[in-house]
Amino acid sequence: MIRFDSDYLEGAYPKILKKLVEINYEQEPGYGKDKYSKSAENKIRKALNCDNVDVHFLVGGTQTNMTVISSILRSYQSVICADTGHINVHETGAIESFGNKVMTAKNHDGKINARQIQELVEEQRNYDLPEHLVMPKLVFVSLPTECGTNYTKEELKEVYDYCKENDLYLYIDGARLGYGLVAKDTDIKMEDLPELCDVFYIGGTKCGALFGEAVVIINDKLKKDFRYYMKQRGAMLAKGKLLGIQFDVLFENDLYFKICKQAVELALKIKEAAIEKGYKLYFNSFTNQQFIIMPNTKLKSLEKDFAFFKWQKYDEKNTVIRICTSWATTEENVNKLIEKL
Ligand SMILES: Cc1ncc(COP(=O)(O)O)c(C=O)c1O
Repeated sequence: MIRFDSDYLEGAYPKILKKLVEINYEQEPGYGKDKYSKSAENKIRKALNCDNVDVHFLVGGTQTNMTVISSILRSYQSVICADTGHINVHETGAIESFGNKVMTAKNHDGKINARQIQELVEEQRNYDLPEHLVMPKLVFVSLPTECGTNYTKEELKEVYDYCKENDLYLYIDGARLGYGLVAKDTDIKMEDLPELCDVFYIGGTKCGALFGEAVVIINDKLKKDFRYYMKQRGAMLAKGKLLGIQFDVLFENDLYFKICKQAVELALKIKEAAIEKGYKLYFNSFTNQQFIIMPNTKLKSLEKDFAFFKWQKYDEKNTVIRICTSWATTEENVNKLIEKL
């Protein structure tokens, strides 16, 4: 069985494993105070061309979203996201479990815009008794989105400008950041991010690490006491060096982007072959996730050899499948899939 159902099916990029073995007996302080975490923090600052950001390493995406979001919001405040936003549909109500409402706007290929945010904000602010309603305070977007699409710099700037002018924060979920930033449907570069949001995270789990996400806090107001929130949420790993080492390797010589680029090129090879063979796309993605409308009969035969994520029913005869490549996908397996398509 060759699996294309997700991008976290393999272990870690070999250089990471090698480094973990090399330093296995080294003793280092815990909870992110080790030299590898410090070095990784600095490499990330360098990649962002920005010294004035705080960097923290957490273990997984849901944990990161709930730690960041619950550290920002007071009990009466809410977070706005696309209806397809990961915190709305795939995190078991983690945000609501801390008492904060998730307010949604209808997505357009996974994205929301400033006007939609404005509508939700004004609905509350213009209400006769605004304190009787939940107060929107944070906007959550993913880069790339859950639909494999990207914001352009102009689109994201418009959202962030609205947030800044209206006393809201903007948080970017970058679970697949590497696969997004190397894609050709965005002009956003890593070093643009400190100008485009208040806080974001660099996904490691799906982008070459064994596990791990690096939270980057840009806005000074959000920096204070973040480690307290991490610890309280169980998000501060005692063996923090295991996270630091992984990001230290990934941010050496641009490795993070090199391995993500390779995955995206293979995903685009599948996309182009599918189009050529007459399949229709559900979303026009230029990242490592591809969404194809697949006749159910064909799907059944493909599933003898390949695993896909069934995104949704398209109609009685077709299903939307998601095909993911990762840093570990081989061209050989991609060619086998293309042949069977
Ligand atoms: C955009 C996005 N954010 C967050 C997560 C959550 O990550 P985890 O499953 O590690 O909690 C995922 C996982 O699929 C994701 O796609």
